[in-house]
Amino acid sequence: MKQFTDVHDLGDIQVALKEAFEIKKDRFKDIELVKNKTLMMIFFNSSLRTRLSTQKAATNLGMNVIVLDMNQGAWQLETERGVIMDGDKPEHLLEAIPVIGCYCDIIGVRSFARFENKEYDYNEVVINQFIQYSGRPVFSMEAATRHPLQSFADLITIEEYKKTARPKVVMSWAPHPHPLPQAVPNSFAEWMNATDYEFVITHPEGYELAPNFVGNARVEYDQMKAFEGADFIYAKNWSAYTGDNYGQILSKDRAWTVGTEHMAVTNNAYFMHCLPVRRNMIVTDDVIESPQSIVIPEAANREISAQVVLKRLLEGLE
Ligand code: CP
Repeated sequence: MKQFTDVHDLGDIQVALKEAFEIKKDRFKDIELVKNKTLMMIFFNSSLRTRLSTQKAATNLGMNVIVLDMNQGAWQLETERGVIMDGDKPEHLLEAIPVIGCYCDIIGVRSFARFENKEYDYNEVVINQFIQYSGRPVFSMEAATRHPLQSFADLITIEEYKKTARPKVVMSWAPHPHPLPQAVPNSFAEWMNATDYEFVITHPEGYELAPNFVGNARVEYDQMKAFEGADFIYAKNWSAYTGDNYGQILSKDRAWTVGTEHMAVTNNAYFMHCLPVRRNMIVTDDVIESPQSIVIPEAANREISAQVVLKRLLEGLE
């Protein structure tokens, strides 16, 4: 594998799941796969799970790891070509990216949507520049429109907990005080559409995701109706995608906060969230602390999804 930015890079997801469960049985079985290979993790945005789980996965494979927080200690980067650099950004990414590539074998990049320009975000300008100019395999640690390491971990978790071959999975919008990107819901939808699960998306009107991510999902504006008979509830906030509302908050309606009354109409569903989660905005204390909450095993599977991806990228090195 040469890059990992979406579900399609992984090929057959059943094969990838098999690899994930083999790694889960013995995380150190591939420690001799490579010697002296270096992972560079570049963060333009904060992280807890991605940072720790990816670093742990790399260590399981015997890799060296360098972590660079671009906003803490690195030079501020100019990203636009043709700019007269007389402002506060002393370095251009057209030099910075190939320089980073000199010091490592594989690069992971976290770069969220900026909400300044929808086209810029949805063209994935930042991660694509790393792919184009670094000379190294690049993988997404959450880009502007997708978070595939999270979605792969979500899929592994659903496979572990499902009680029927074709569970009903419901992704629900929930309120949040700040505008959040669509990367996690886009990506989750993309991965769910790659399975044969029954997949439903529920959100208030105005929060429609891009049609290519919604795919074959059923969109249901009545949250309680969507939850009926669900086996998994995947809660997440996202800001508006459509038209002039891109990146805007249209509602903070706490009737959408996932509570015990919502979970009561499900098929004793498991509760999932990628974390970090705002308690009593996204989900009530009672639900997230209930035995049906699987947010911690879900986070634990981030190590496994990262390890499958890193192993594939290492195998693809020339
Ligand atoms: N879910 C997730 O990506 O968590 P972090 O933002 O803490 O990495």
